[in-house]
Amino acid sequence: MKLADNKATLSFSNGAPSVELPVYQGNIGPDVIDIRKLYGQSGMFTYDPGFLSTAACQSAITYIDGDKGELLYRGYPIEQLAKNCNFLETCYLLLYGELPNETQKADFENRVTQHTMVNEQMQFFLRGFRRDAHPMAVLTGLVGGMSAFYHDSTDITNPEHREIAAIRLIAKLPTLVSMAYKYGVGQPYMYPKNDLSYAGNFMRMMFGNPCEEYKVNPVVERALDRIFILHADHEQNASTSTVRLCGSSGTNPFAAISAGVACLWGPAHGGANEACLNMLEHIQANGGISKVGEFMEQVKDKNSGVKLMGFGHRVYKNYDPRAKLMQETCNEILQELGLEKDPLFALAKQLEKIALEDDYFVQRKLYPNVDFYSGIVQRAIGIPVKLFTGIFALARTVGWIAQLNEQMADPEYKIGRPRQLYTGSVARDVKPITQR
Ligand code: CMC
Repeated sequence: MKLADNKATLSFSNGAPSVELPVYQGNIGPDVIDIRKLYGQSGMFTYDPGFLSTAACQSAITYIDGDKGELLYRGYPIEQLAKNCNFLETCYLLLYGELPNETQKADFENRVTQHTMVNEQMQFFLRGFRRDAHPMAVLTGLVGGMSAFYHDSTDITNPEHREIAAIRLIAKLPTLVSMAYKYGVGQPYMYPKNDLSYAGNFMRMMFGNPCEEYKVNPVVERALDRIFILHADHEQNASTSTVRLCGSSGTNPFAAISAGVACLWGPAHGGANEACLNMLEHIQANGGISKVGEFMEQVKDKNSGVKLMGFGHRVYKNYDPRAKLMQETCNEILQELGLEKDPLFALAKQLEKIALEDDYFVQRKLYPNVDFYSGIVQRAIGIPVKLFTGIFALARTVGWIAQLNEQMADPEYKIGRPRQLYTGSVARDVKPITQR
């Protein structure tokens, strides 16, 4: 973090002394005004619910230029990573800052695959859930529950514990997500098979069974790997900020990541892929393409409470670059599986076309985000709608843990403790119950 040449001066109309605040520059993106001493100097807090203008930390992992529609992991454009690297190379990049060379790649893959099994006892923990439990409820429990199984990696202040927790989380999430799925459908769990790729192993644990060999379709494997890359990190979004805040208390990494899983579940965040597919199915069931115009009128009517799911983003005011790549993958996968005429894909393209030409969306700079097409790809692969956000959680785990570890290693790290503008009752006395 570099001090900028200029400073910010905050003045008050009531004649109170003005306050001079340092300004810092990042490598790209907006400068920040350092307000840490503001309260000490003025007795005032800043007010920014939703963090519209507040940088909560410094980070060197991911950069988004929302106006350009640009996403960089450690400086590398997402398009290049999606084309030239696999998910585990991307994990290495996010965790350690550089792409691995061949030896580092082989070593990292080896370390991850050595941790793909979960403690056998975890299946009994899983058994406590109802069979129809939402997979995100199950995953929140299972990921948090890891802290009860892996006691040698729970000290978040110890860099070695953080490293082993990172590898365990990346390695075990596919196993846990597929266990949550198999439990729901009443099929036996499949143990990981370590000679398969990360995505191939996950596909086998999801769709294989102990009675026959499972053959991995390379096109589907690549599509899934791309889904993982595109969801791997996204700077200080709601779930990542949740992980950072949770971890800032010094809790163990598994507890912090399970807080991220819980936050991701919401429909304004990772739950949007499930909500988007449900929306498409709803339109399809109620007349399909012919009803798109009517649906769009509801979306534009503020009183309807209907949103176009998979559209809009706090940061992107342009096409989400992940949505472009996801649309490409969607085309490939539907062709591979002979589903080119998939009515939901046609419907999605029609909705997108109308939205991109409609004043309501144009004025508000609302574009498709990653979730608009990811549900169609996942559904084509055979992933049930309720598991979509679980796939997002699996992929985002590396981003969460990289960001958490970055925070814990930052000398400026402090427990996160926002302030408030109090609007409740001033101090008053408790009356005896007969007088209330
Ligand atoms: N459909 C209709 N109107 C929308 C939509 C939408 N999907 N998104 C935003 N708007 C409107 C919103 O009503 C507001 O209008 P007005 O200025 O007239 O009040 C304006 O656009 C600005 O929206 P906002 O709610 O102030 O923006 P935000 O930054 O607070 O919210 C968002 C961002 C992603 C929560 C929101 O766009 C949304 O709810 N989208 C649908 C859910 C979704 O797809 N979420 C996935 C996000 S990407 C995956 C991830 O990273 O988690």
